[in-house]
Amino acid sequence: MAPTITALDATLGATVTDIGLADLDDGTWAVVEDAFHQYALLVFPGQNLSPAAQEAFAARFGEIEILRGDSDHKSVEISNAKPDGTVAGAGEHRFKVLRGNEGWHTDSSYMPLAAKASVLSAVEVPPSGGETEWADMRAAYDALDDVRKRRISGLSAYHSLYQSQAKMGYEIRTGAGYGYHTKGAPLRPLVKTHPVTGRKSLFIGRHAYRIPGLDDGAALALLDELQDFACRPPRIHTHHWRPGDTVVWDNRCVLHRARPYDFDLPRVMRHTRVAGDPATELAHDSTPDDRADAYAPTASNR
Ligand code: OGA
Ligand code: MN
Repeated sequence: MAPTITALDATLGATVTDIGLADLDDGTWAVVEDAFHQYALLVFPGQNLSPAAQEAFAARFGEIEILRGDSDHKSVEISNAKPDGTVAGAGEHRFKVLRGNEGWHTDSSYMPLAAKASVLSAVEVPPSGGETEWADMRAAYDALDDVRKRRISGLSAYHSLYQSQAKMGYEIRTGAGYGYHTKGAPLRPLVKTHPVTGRKSLFIGRHAYRIPGLDDGAALALLDELQDFACRPPRIHTHHWRPGDTVVWDNRCVLHRARPYDFDLPRVMRHTRVAGDPATELAHDSTPDDRADAYAPTASNR
């Protein structure tokens, strides 16, 4: 049976039913891939995928990005519950990462190679809160007036997890480990052309922080203004999770964020990330000086 694809009430996203992701034949995959390009966000309710089945589904989209430094970890838990069963407290690294996820972002934009897609499933969810939201950066770009389109064409921003966490008052560990880039922040154009559809989209989010050619205050004001404009109806969708739901989104043209919930209650999600294509998601080269400059703390971070 062919899957049923129902557009969501937003400029992005569709729900896909009558499909088993654990057992996807090539014909059905072709339908899913087309829908992914058209809708940029696909919601598959009630899949109850095992970790291995989720990883196999993610691998249909491309190479898996390894998030914990060893190739046995093709997916990671995004969870406030620790292995000992207690939940993370305010001072803990895990807590800061989860709070960070509540800001609009796109995955791995602060890494040299930004992500193509992310697959996220709910394992255990609190009775209220803890939704995930996505915002359509294609529709956001389209909705900009010509003055703004001209203003941002040709501009690029540095992306840094140090900066985005510092803005929240969190200092993160430096050095080796996932996400802690040590070679300077990658520089990425504010307007990205989708490698498959050719559509333009805004490429912004919480990790973007400094724009060559603008002073830091003007850069932050512009980035905030763009994000405020972009992340509102009809360009956003909120998913109220049920355990077993699986979602995939296109990080090249969609921002996402977690919504708050009662941190005393466990929320356990499983995430598998698909690496970008180096031809189109590798950060543009910047000069060694640019990199050193971008890497230095800004006034707000000192
Ligand atoms: C992620 C993420 C948001 C959420 O998995 O990359 O940002 O709702 N998750 O858990
Ligand atoms: Mn994320």
